[in-house]
Amino acid sequence: MYPYKIIVFILMVAFIVSCKENEKVSHSHEVESYNEQFRPQVHFSPPANWMNDPNGMVFFEGEYHLFYQYYPDSTVWGPMHWGHAVSEDLIQWDHLPIALYPDSLGYIFSGSAVIDWDNSSGLGANGQAPMIAIFTHHNMEGEKSNSSTFQYQSIAYSTDKGRTWTKYKSNPVIENPGIRDFRDPKVIWSEEYEKWVMVFAAYDKALFYTSDNLIDWERTGMFGIEGDDRLWECPDLFPIKVEGSNETKWILITSIQQKGPNGGTATSYFVGEFDGSSFIGNSKEQKWLDYGTDNYAFVTWSDIPEEDGRRLGIGWMSNWQYAQVVPTSPWRSAMTMPRELKLFNHDNNYILHSTIVDELNVLREKSILFDQKTYEESKVLIDDLSKDAYELYFKFEIPKKGLINVEISNSTEEELNIGYNVSDQTYFIDRTFAGKDEFSEVFADYHLGEARYEKTNVEMRIIVDRSSIELIADNGRCVMTDIYFPSSPFEKVTIEAEVNEVTLIEGSYTTLRSIW
Ligand code: FRU
Repeated sequence: MYPYKIIVFILMVAFIVSCKENEKVSHSHEVESYNEQFRPQVHFSPPANWMNDPNGMVFFEGEYHLFYQYYPDSTVWGPMHWGHAVSEDLIQWDHLPIALYPDSLGYIFSGSAVIDWDNSSGLGANGQAPMIAIFTHHNMEGEKSNSSTFQYQSIAYSTDKGRTWTKYKSNPVIENPGIRDFRDPKVIWSEEYEKWVMVFAAYDKALFYTSDNLIDWERTGMFGIEGDDRLWECPDLFPIKVEGSNETKWILITSIQQKGPNGGTATSYFVGEFDGSSFIGNSKEQKWLDYGTDNYAFVTWSDIPEEDGRRLGIGWMSNWQYAQVVPTSPWRSAMTMPRELKLFNHDNNYILHSTIVDELNVLREKSILFDQKTYEESKVLIDDLSKDAYELYFKFEIPKKGLINVEISNSTEEELNIGYNVSDQTYFIDRTFAGKDEFSEVFADYHLGEARYEKTNVEMRIIVDRSSIELIADNGRCVMTDIYFPSSPFEKVTIEAEVNEVTLIEGSYTTLRSIW
């Protein structure tokens, strides 16, 4: 080859490589290093600016997609876009360019995505199954003019693995019949009824629509609680096998805007059946997916391959009571750890257990084991928490009375307490003295997780990050997610045994490496 040809060749290769790199917009130019004071190290957060609900989660060709409610121009809520990230393991994420921008029909509110494998919509191209996003258009002018028809459901499609999107030309696909809160469509394919099924929130209820092609929809059902006037948001609907049996049940998840178990917003669910038209459940049996204050709009991934078969989901790790004023910058909000849901039948009480996905293991570094013994007085287990993210595991004997209390603290006397109260049979996270709280009157508080069931031990798996804690108790039967903002990093982990002695059967500390 002539030298100039070699140079041209090298330049071309360099150009192609740089184009490939640009497909993955890391946004790293916008932020220092993902190392700000409260920046989560093992949780997803946007590089900068405002994020709320997870949206459009779908698995396709080896990638888990995570879209999210995003306002790229500020750290408070504003005109909603769909931000976008992908991961091969649910844990380590690549940021991609914004997927959906507001348009003449409105802001892009929450919704879901599916793969239209048989191209029922006709929106695929070149034999490629399209990825279809189904979302709510929220029209601001409509809202301001006091109309009640400013939210409607629309779709968009992508034939390049979610990299670029085209809005459907005849949006919306579901017009608003006159209901002010009419949003957050989740679409699933029903194998049994061979139909697309959409569930979305209509003020204090869930509505069901079905379709053959994702474009023409027919209203088929409704589910709600008699006398309930709380606002419902972000529902989800899916079948799930009952562990250890051949029985299948249907779950309707719905997030609730007021009066969560510990105040403010929270994610709940019902267990029941689906008859092809509607979810049928016992509306009196509303259960909480998470007793902490910071797991909202939790929904699950679509199109997880059958050979995997897990029901995987993620939630927004904040609460509308204070989400817009928490002291983080230049971003606001993170997602929970991805969770796996399993349904257990405990004496005819069907309970969803949530555990952290096993993929978290990719981050595990060093472990140390705690002494297995009866602690008769308080004992510092670790006094040099060198890492910001780690996992604690404890299996205690149930004390006859009193508390199990693990304290995580710093030298400025800020502390986070996690544990179990024997007389009430509740787990707790107490963030009353855990650091900054002046931004909200309701933030400094303790939270209780109902655990009134028979147990053989008190078992707590705790994922701690720079500004969040997730307690997965009793194999995920009682789960609590809380955020907190210590003025300086926590350094110590202590087993408190002043009030009563506690016996540790098993315990460990494992550091987690940062995903950024
Ligand atoms: C829930 C929610 C959704 C809505 C979105 C707007 O947090 O209020 O109901 O689609 O946020 O950002």
